[in-house]
Amino acid sequence: MRGDAETGLPRHVAVIMDGNGRWAQRRLLPRSAGHRAGMNRMLSLVDHMFQRGVQYVTLYALSTENLSRPKEELDGLYSLIRRYFAENTRKLKEKSVRLKVIGERALLPDDVRVLIEEGERETAEGERGVLLLAIAYGSRQELIRAVNRVKHNVVITEEDVSAALDTAGVPEPDLLIRTGKELRLSNFLLWQAAYAELYFSGKMFPDFTNRDLDKALEEFKNRHRRYGLVE
Ligand code: IPE
Ligand code: IPE
Ligand code: MG
Repeated sequence: MRGDAETGLPRHVAVIMDGNGRWAQRRLLPRSAGHRAGMNRMLSLVDHMFQRGVQYVTLYALSTENLSRPKEELDGLYSLIRRYFAENTRKLKEKSVRLKVIGERALLPDDVRVLIEEGERETAEGERGVLLLAIAYGSRQELIRAVNRVKHNVVITEEDVSAALDTAGVPEPDLLIRTGKELRLSNFLLWQAAYAELYFSGKMFPDFTNRDLDKALEEFKNRHRRYGLVE
């Protein structure tokens, strides 16, 4: 089943949280201020999505390519990620939300990796929803990892690849939202989003309100998903 047949809401929403840097630059603030504002926006948006009944939320927080940004920006992003885990693991556990990080965590600083592992362990029993954070994530790199896991199979099926991805066991996104005005996927969920409904917002991520999210959910309800068939 794709989406929620009763409510018409997407079961899984993926978000490319783009535009933090431009949000800050327009206010003559350092890019780090944009990332902080983006993080605050993200906290509220995630709560809102689970309250609305979305069961899986995937957030693109840091791409493989972003790892080549200047050290200063990257260090600021790692500090934010540290703070996120330190302050939110317990809250997610209380809300019964399971945390899952996708991406190549070996590329992250050791202490960040430890925090991620703790966060996943602490929230493992969560049953109300799943929050997937894409950190040091690139879809092509994920696909290469998956193919290497299944390459000894005589015949490789779609199911084999899906089950070897970082998102194994998670249903495909129904709705993929990108803020920040760009019309591209930037190496995000290339396999999983094969039939996702795409929604692009011109707003920079820190300006993307819960009401903006509701608008995207409403639009999703009115999309006709044909999956290549004739209606
Ligand atoms: C998205 O915002 C967050 C990350 C990539 C970490 P950007 O930092 O890409 O913001 P813009 O696109 O420069 O405005
Ligand atoms: C995509 O945004 C990655 C994240 C939002 C984490 P980018 O800002 O890195 O994408 P490009 O560079 O515009 O393609
Ligand atoms: Mg960007």
